[in-house]
Amino acid sequence: MSETLTSLNDVKRLSKDSLEALQVSRLQQTLQHVFDNSPPYREKFNEAGVHPGDLKNLQDLKKFPFTTKQDLRAHYPFGLFSVPMDQVARIHASSGTTGKPTVVGYTQDDIDHWATCVARSIEAAGGRAGDRVQVAYGYGLFTGGLGAHYGAEKLGCTVIPMSGGQTEKQVQLLQDFQSDIIMVTPSYMLNIADELDRQGVDPRELKLRLGIFGAEPWTNAMRQAIETRCGIDATDIYGLSEVMGPGVAQEFVDSKDGPTIWEDHFLPEIIDPETGDVLEEGQEGELVFTSLTKQAFPVIRYRTRDLTRLLPGSECVMRRIAKITGRSDDMLIIRGVNVFPSQIEELLLQKPELSPHYQIELNRAGNMDEVTLHVEEKPDANDAQAQASDLQQRIKNLVGISCRMQVHSSGGLPRSEGKAKRVIDRR
Ligand code: DLL
Repeated sequence: MSETLTSLNDVKRLSKDSLEALQVSRLQQTLQHVFDNSPPYREKFNEAGVHPGDLKNLQDLKKFPFTTKQDLRAHYPFGLFSVPMDQVARIHASSGTTGKPTVVGYTQDDIDHWATCVARSIEAAGGRAGDRVQVAYGYGLFTGGLGAHYGAEKLGCTVIPMSGGQTEKQVQLLQDFQSDIIMVTPSYMLNIADELDRQGVDPRELKLRLGIFGAEPWTNAMRQAIETRCGIDATDIYGLSEVMGPGVAQEFVDSKDGPTIWEDHFLPEIIDPETGDVLEEGQEGELVFTSLTKQAFPVIRYRTRDLTRLLPGSECVMRRIAKITGRSDDMLIIRGVNVFPSQIEELLLQKPELSPHYQIELNRAGNMDEVTLHVEEKPDANDAQAQASDLQQRIKNLVGISCRMQVHSSGGLPRSEGKAKRVIDRR
């Protein structure tokens, strides 16, 4: 691969023209690589009547076919890999709720690029060499733990590979090892914050300064709640296994205006999820990625199913994504109204007597969908019930659905140790 931008400074200095030239040449190499080395991709290109040589500029990418989760399933486990297995240094997989896991592979160079992207992400989040990073994303087949780990090491941090779970111990290490940074899902951070409270530890007295939160949707309201409660800066890290893992995009701590996509490695498009047409910048649709440097498992126009908008660069020429509204498959259709859990989260967080933990339960009564919103009162609440009734009214007015409210006592709802399960669909 030509010229590699390693540090955040390199990224900040890059001009739009140099970025585009780099993207075109890397895209041409990637298309040729999958065409030569991955029979399923070659077949798809042939069927669509396109050849890698047809790509002269970035706009030509839309001539190429999409890749979907179904393609990954159809070639389970290793059929889409584009290098011989003896060059695959690592496998990860995401469990998914149904069927077989989605399997991805990395060469040694892929792992190195991944570490570069995560190191850059931690730096953009305000981290520096020498910081102690508590990695509380799960280690294992999930990309969160090991992805964060290698990136933090590459930046020159001291890594504390705690993994997810063992909440009491998380708190102990935050105190005794004096972690500067925690990398964890936002929902698990709330759980850790509750444990700090339970142990009578004031989070503001910890050395902890930064949280790098992702792997699930979360709102700006949730950011504010965590920042105030824990006295830290909270930034958003985005990624997915099929494209690499954490570190596809990361928010800068100074602007907190949505994750910047590391566009020297991943080329984004936003499409209309119904028609597949590429939408103009700024319009909301489905995020699609083409990898520009991956060798073992390159993806061409991979449909993430995440819904968002592309925004112009703010801290550098690379573009940003707006906060992910949700995945198209997480969108609830309740009596014809499209609802994302994040809409409910935003309203819930305006209620000071209700905790930020919640679950949405769906049932079917006859032909009708019934929604129960499970919320929890805070330990010192006086009249959580009144706030819940008010929330119910606001959801009806602003989101457009009627729901039953169930207020649980403090600690009554299940806690997340990784990705939160917001929706229980019993229909
Ligand atoms: O969740 C990778 C990751 C690990 C990202 C740690 C950030 C931190 P998957 O398990 O394959 O990979 O799940 C990917 O999670 O398509 C989104 O729907 C969602 N997601 C990830 N990051 C964010 C985020 C990892 N910052 C899926 N905001 C993605 C909203 C996110 N959703």
